[in-house]
Amino acid sequence: MSSSTTWIHDAVIYQIYPRSFADGNGDGIGDLAGIRARLGYLKTLGVDAIWFSPWYVSPMADAGYDVADYRDIDPLFGSLAEAETLIAEAHGLGLKVIVDIVPNHCSSAHPLFQAALRDPAAPERDLFYFRDNPANEWSSHFGGPAWSQAPDGSWYLHMFAPEQPDWNWDHPRVREEFDATLRFWLDRGVDGFRIDVADHLVKDLSAMDGYRNQEGVHEIYREWRKVAESYPQKGIFVGELWDPDPVSFARYLRPDELHTGFNFAFLACPWDAAMMREVITLTLSTHQPINAPATWVLSNHDVVRHVTRYGRPDTGHNFLPLLDGPPADLALGTRRARAAALLMLALPGCAYVYQGEELGLPEVEDLPTHVLQDPRWVRSGYTDRGRDGCRVPLPWSGTNPPFGFGPAGSTPWLPQPESWAKLTAEAQEDDPGSMLSLYRAALRLRRTLDGGPLEWLDSPEGVLAFKRGHHTCIINLSAETLPLDGDEHVLLKSIDEPGLPPDAAVWVKERVA
Ligand code: GLC
Ligand code: CA
Repeated sequence: MSSSTTWIHDAVIYQIYPRSFADGNGDGIGDLAGIRARLGYLKTLGVDAIWFSPWYVSPMADAGYDVADYRDIDPLFGSLAEAETLIAEAHGLGLKVIVDIVPNHCSSAHPLFQAALRDPAAPERDLFYFRDNPANEWSSHFGGPAWSQAPDGSWYLHMFAPEQPDWNWDHPRVREEFDATLRFWLDRGVDGFRIDVADHLVKDLSAMDGYRNQEGVHEIYREWRKVAESYPQKGIFVGELWDPDPVSFARYLRPDELHTGFNFAFLACPWDAAMMREVITLTLSTHQPINAPATWVLSNHDVVRHVTRYGRPDTGHNFLPLLDGPPADLALGTRRARAAALLMLALPGCAYVYQGEELGLPEVEDLPTHVLQDPRWVRSGYTDRGRDGCRVPLPWSGTNPPFGFGPAGSTPWLPQPESWAKLTAEAQEDDPGSMLSLYRAALRLRRTLDGGPLEWLDSPEGVLAFKRGHHTCIINLSAETLPLDGDEHVLLKSIDEPGLPPDAAVWVKERVA
């Protein structure tokens, strides 16, 4: 089956970050019971699939991206039986399920790493990178060196926190472990996997950037693809690939490897028409020859929420630490985020919605430092506040925290701003001008839009205009209002103002002659 014919081809996938979505038992941390109670909301929103960030057994040194057991659910979130029920309930609503797989590293609490620590002569030692001395100068992505010392004096590699030792993928046992994990979740009916740091698995310790894009990684994905295709649901893969190089990026999407990849160029792109057009054109020209769907994403659990990003003087994304960033203009950011949603959802390919973006949530930039939990805060020597600001628990209802995230009186694991009272799902439900209403309308309409290739249309400077079939999308990133004639052809507009004002977008149906 070619990737173009799978459901992922034009799907909209909603990312659930379990600890911050909904808390069923009131301990302040989101859980499976909370998610199950909100599945109807996702159905009404109109997405096709849900991607669950890790829900596995974990000491939570990196909010679950440090996995101690890949085949069970952390008791904080619920039980395996409950996950099975949740998968079945999602399927019952017609929603596909994607789970996160974290193959580059595990948790230092993983039994195999524990066995390796206990005895330097243990065979489990070879499942990781243990050396007498650091084998190179690599830095961890969370700051500090990528090598830490084990109690016996030897050193082991961790590209992220010291609590996340890297697997040695040259060892067949590691491959067998992950093969078994893929099958475990495919047996439970999942429809696909999001692969964490997908380009890191294979290492050349002697090369400066030998931790990514090594040739051997492709062979692993060819094997994974065979496993997924052997199941009736033919699981799909989406790789997390922070790779600006279209050539090496496209190699992951060859027909017998991954179906899709996040390339993040769109997410990182500043709010600028020429740059956006360039990114979109490059993305499409990377994907078209290999017949793979492009992947569009504006926010996730690792980056500053785009309402805030688009309201800053510098609207692009980078991972530079931001301790005291310039204040964001949230009204402007929200206006742009509305336009960006219509842009993203009109582009050919699949789109991702990060929980809360449909509510227009901003980044919480003023979390008190004592509540910060992202390891980047400590690892950076308290110079980088990290990613907690985009992980604040969702506001569902009511006028005071916990805003329905958990039962009244419960305390969410990160404090929610009082100002979120006006951003709850309940407050937006019946407001036709709300972000939630815009997402619902766009997701509903998207199903009726023409598919097919994108064709750029002539447009004034600062304006993006493209056509797909009989439908046109226009985004005004200039400072001038554009006249819009033929109101009767407007399908959806990001703003209720005359014409097409700055930072607004519109979907139009072509006049039939
Ligand atoms: C990915 C995840 C991020 C995590 C890191 C290490 O980038 O998205 O949240 O910290 O991998 O697993
Ligand atoms: Ca809970």
